[in-house]
Amino acid sequence: EGRPLLTALESLIWDVPDYPSPGILFKDITPLLADHDTFTATVQALADAGRDGSGATVVDKVLGMEARGFILAAPVALALGAGFVPVRKAGKLPRETHAVSYALEYGEATLEIHTDAVAPGERVLLVDDVLATGGTIDATRQLVEACGGTVAGVAVLMELSALPGRAAVGALPLTALMTV
Ligand code: PRP
Repeated sequence: EGRPLLTALESLIWDVPDYPSPGILFKDITPLLADHDTFTATVQALADAGRDGSGATVVDKVLGMEARGFILAAPVALALGAGFVPVRKAGKLPRETHAVSYALEYGEATLEIHTDAVAPGERVLLVDDVLATGGTIDATRQLVEACGGTVAGVAVLMELSALPGRAAVGALPLTALMTV
C-alpha cells in the first residue's frame, strides 16, 4: 500500500521552478487532487494519523490551514467522523478569534481561529500540504492551546527536509507521506 502511494505522489506532485519568485521550487499538488484514486489514498493515509492501533478515531476535530490545508483536512475530518475547523489568515473569520503572528522570511503572517472552534479538552489533528519552516504548524498549535484544546498529532503530505519544520513540531507525533 505505502509504496504504490508514494510512487503515485512522486509522479503527481509537480515541481514548478521559480514560482512564486525566482529561486523557489514550487510543489504543485493540483495533478494529485485531480486523480481520484490517489487523492482518496492520500486522504486515507493522512486520516490514519487520527486513529489508534485498532482503527478507532482518537481526535475530536481536524484543523486545516488556509488555503491548501483546507483541501486535505476537510475530507480527512469526514473520513474520521470528526469535525473540521478552518485556521484562516488575518481578517477572514467573522466572529471572535484568537490570533497568532509569526515571522516569515520577509515580514510576518497572522493566523486566526474562532475562539469556540475547539472546546476545552478536545483533541485535534493538524493537517496541511507542506511542512517547511514549521511556522504555520507552531502558530496553529498556539491557537489550539488558546482555545484550551490539545494537539494530538500533525499530518502533512510533504515534509521539506532541508528546513527545520520537524523541530517546530517537537515531540508531537508527525506523519509525513513523503519527504523531499
Ligand atoms: C504554505 C503551505 C503551508 C505552509 C508551510 O502555505 O500550504 O501551509 O506554507 O510553510 P511553513 O512550514 O514554513 O509555515 P501558504 O502560506 O503558501 O498559503 P496558501 O496555502 O494559502 O498558498
